[in-house]
Amino acid sequence: MHRIHAYPAKFPAFITTKALGYARQGGLSVNRMADIFCGCGTVAFEAKRNNIDFWGCDINPVATLIARAKSKKYIKRRLEEYLDLILNSFDSLKSHLESYVNANERLKYWYDEDKFYDIQRLKSAIEVVVPASSEYRYFFLCAFSNILKASSRWLTKSIKPQVDPKKKPIGVLSAFKEQCKFMISANEESDVTGSSETKIVTANFLDESVDKPSVDMIVTSPPYVTSYEYADLHQLSSLWLGYVSDYRALRNGSIGSLYHQHSFEKEMSRLNATASKIVACLIKRDKSKARAVTKYFLDMQRVTRACYSMLSDDGLVLFVIGNTEYKGIRIDNAKHLSESLLGSGFKKILMTKRKITRKILTPYRDKYGQFSSDGNSKKIYSEEFIVIGRKS
Ligand SMILES: C[S@@+](CC[C@H](N)C(=O)[O-])C[C@H]1O[C@@H](n2cnc3c(N)ncnc32)[C@H](O)[C@@H]1O
Repeated sequence: MHRIHAYPAKFPAFITTKALGYARQGGLSVNRMADIFCGCGTVAFEAKRNNIDFWGCDINPVATLIARAKSKKYIKRRLEEYLDLILNSFDSLKSHLESYVNANERLKYWYDEDKFYDIQRLKSAIEVVVPASSEYRYFFLCAFSNILKASSRWLTKSIKPQVDPKKKPIGVLSAFKEQCKFMISANEESDVTGSSETKIVTANFLDESVDKPSVDMIVTSPPYVTSYEYADLHQLSSLWLGYVSDYRALRNGSIGSLYHQHSFEKEMSRLNATASKIVACLIKRDKSKARAVTKYFLDMQRVTRACYSMLSDDGLVLFVIGNTEYKGIRIDNAKHLSESLLGSGFKKILMTKRKITRKILTPYRDKYGQFSSDGNSKKIYSEEFIVIGRKS
């Protein structure tokens, strides 16, 4: 189930199991857990497998769509019936529902006319067959979302939005059938049986109006500063699924995005010691980057305070976080996070380093953002940190 949809920066599922073991060893019984940046639902699924109530939050609707599809056990027979109906409906729908000429310019950029019409028909077929109120919609929209890159001109396997002029995009309907079959068998194999509750919301975690339940443990991985631009990476899905008409709108509210004017000097005075040192180095090189990093650090300081409020008295928070670099300046996200946790009231902080084996073999990224072993490419870190805070 963890492979039903590509998602950048997902963390390995075993981290959740280890976190639960660690909590148990420390005498904490976990009845409800959360992932406040739940991405594609790695923790959501693991919580379900362990029959633990779960609350997840992500600002990106593509992420929450995948997380919802992942954390539900579907009835195989109904999935197969729906799939047959969708395929029949595709055949009977008019081939040109809305004209290519009037389509969103961004979609025209990624798709040729034939593929555009096929995708449009497939989406309509799903909407005609699977009721909007049914949880089965998530399953089929998730399958739909995962074939959008392969059937476009997007450079294969690249994490950066880049056209490959030589690419032959795959057929829409055959890719969809394959994807559904794969997801149906993954769903069948998944050992999710319990009656625990899963709630996943699409929201900015820092938005104070979001209702955040009390939990015993938070396991999460925040965006890293100067790392992925999630909104850009999911532009095909967010445009096709109608979440936005301009994919850049989804950047607003993301951790670290400069979405409103603020006084830089005033904001800087609220940074903790680690952040102040890093920002002071950055200012000398690039003032606008220093502003963005300041915003990121301040957001993360708010995140740790919000985690503290959400946790039960003895609760635990576990972050997976990596360090980054900008123009030779090391940005120690992990150190900043530990200091923020202490500043928010957490009593005990534990930090451990984890080697990432795949990245050790290919410790660079090429100009397309792909892992590479070419020493001339951009260096990436082959390690990340597990930072744990305990309330008491
Ligand atoms: C490192 S990824 C999490 C990946 C996740 N652990 C998984 O396995 O899929 C960070 C996530 O934070 C989300 N995010 C960024 N800003 C957010 C905000 N203000 N509120 C909620 N989610 C946010 C991004 O959309 C992204 O999915």
